[in-house]
Amino acid sequence: MARTQVAIIGAGPSGLLLSQLLHLNGIDSVVLERQSREYVAGRIRAGVLEHGTVELLLEARLGERMLRERLVHDGVALGFSGRSLRIDLHALTGRSVSVYGQTEVTKDLIDARIAAGAKLVYEASDVAIEGFDTSHPKVRYRHEGRTHELDCDFIAGCDGYHGVCRQTVPPGAMRNFERIYPFGWLGILADVPPVSHELIYSNHARGFALCSMRSPTRSRYYVQCGLDEKVEAWPDERFWDELKLRLPEEVAASMVTGPSIEKSIAPLRSFVVEPLRFGQLFLVGDAAHIVPPTGAKGLNLAAADVRVLYRGLVDFYRTGSARALERYSEICLRRIWKAVRFSWWFTSIMHKFSDDPFAHRLQLAELDYLSGSTAALTSLAENYVGLPFEAAS
Ligand code: FAD
Ligand code: PHB
Repeated sequence: MARTQVAIIGAGPSGLLLSQLLHLNGIDSVVLERQSREYVAGRIRAGVLEHGTVELLLEARLGERMLRERLVHDGVALGFSGRSLRIDLHALTGRSVSVYGQTEVTKDLIDARIAAGAKLVYEASDVAIEGFDTSHPKVRYRHEGRTHELDCDFIAGCDGYHGVCRQTVPPGAMRNFERIYPFGWLGILADVPPVSHELIYSNHARGFALCSMRSPTRSRYYVQCGLDEKVEAWPDERFWDELKLRLPEEVAASMVTGPSIEKSIAPLRSFVVEPLRFGQLFLVGDAAHIVPPTGAKGLNLAAADVRVLYRGLVDFYRTGSARALERYSEICLRRIWKAVRFSWWFTSIMHKFSDDPFAHRLQLAELDYLSGSTAALTSLAENYVGLPFEAAS
């Protein structure tokens, strides 16, 4: 039977980054992924990296292309009441954020893992975890028509919201917290120059809109849409028209449009499971928590979990002490809940929840308050760029 120190389920950013950091510290892992490599590498998701995530990617020796190609943003804009409020993140916090897509992060991680001869199994089906409440956990899976068994010391459940790891935990051993929002985001990717060199989050009576980007020649735009909407009902022309209607006029006037190269709808959800550790099983990233994308926190939170877990594992294998691992849940959950709160708050002031004019007036009052208060702006800015990491011991 095959054996490894850490069995990692899922080759999204969490699983790949964890295996890379463990490898650099002499710890062996096997990564099992349900999808094909092409499928994982092609998913369009997050775009904004906090300073701390960039530092962690550098620690994982992945930084070269990222440092060359990322766009450093010192500010971000909020659109409302026909105007645009620029928030100077750098002046308020001393920090910036980086625009570097999850697709690129994943590509860099896959390249680094393969160059290091990693054990990465794509298209592993029927993954099942066993005995994680004993000191001899085991993973079973099927690959290329055969059943395999993998013995390990620890299992890292990096398999996303729909993954198998969380689902294997007995319901009585965990508590779920969830909020479903009554809308989704319709996003497109297009090879047109971004309308602004910084992101614009726009509150509008027709619904929220976001102008983002992947490079100086590739834009990523979103509009809030109904949960029952279908991508097919949104030909490019309708998307561009709706986007422009939801932006301050001078922004809409300079918008360059073009054919979309990707178009998809994502529902918005907040979800947290407690705790994150069950014996030798650790839940990491989207397997443990989901935030609405408004705060750009999903990928960054996943990286923060990986940071705590890999350091705990390194400590364990170097010194035999499990102290840091024992604090994994507690340390991660403190950051997670703050990100859940920020993402919920930012979502609630920027989106249209109903036709209630009272609710819209309250949002505008909050945005107006922000524009006149350095204290309120600093609170937004320090959450957006990423709260400081907490020491594990
Ligand atoms: P994932 O990226 O979900 O990776 C989990 C991996 O596990 C997947 O590759 C999956 O195929 C694999 N897997 C699942 N089940 C199994 C199994 N049984 N066996 C083996 N492998 C399995 N965040 C932002 O900050 N901004 C955004 O704009 C944004 N947009 C998003 C849009 C969508 C549609 C989604 C789903 C998420 C978005 N996010 C966004 C969130 C961000 O992409 C995630 O937080 C991030 O991908 C988390 O990484 P992860 O590795 O924990 O999980
Ligand atoms: C993106 O570029 O996809 C993006 C940026 C910021 C967000 C969400 C998504 O808050």
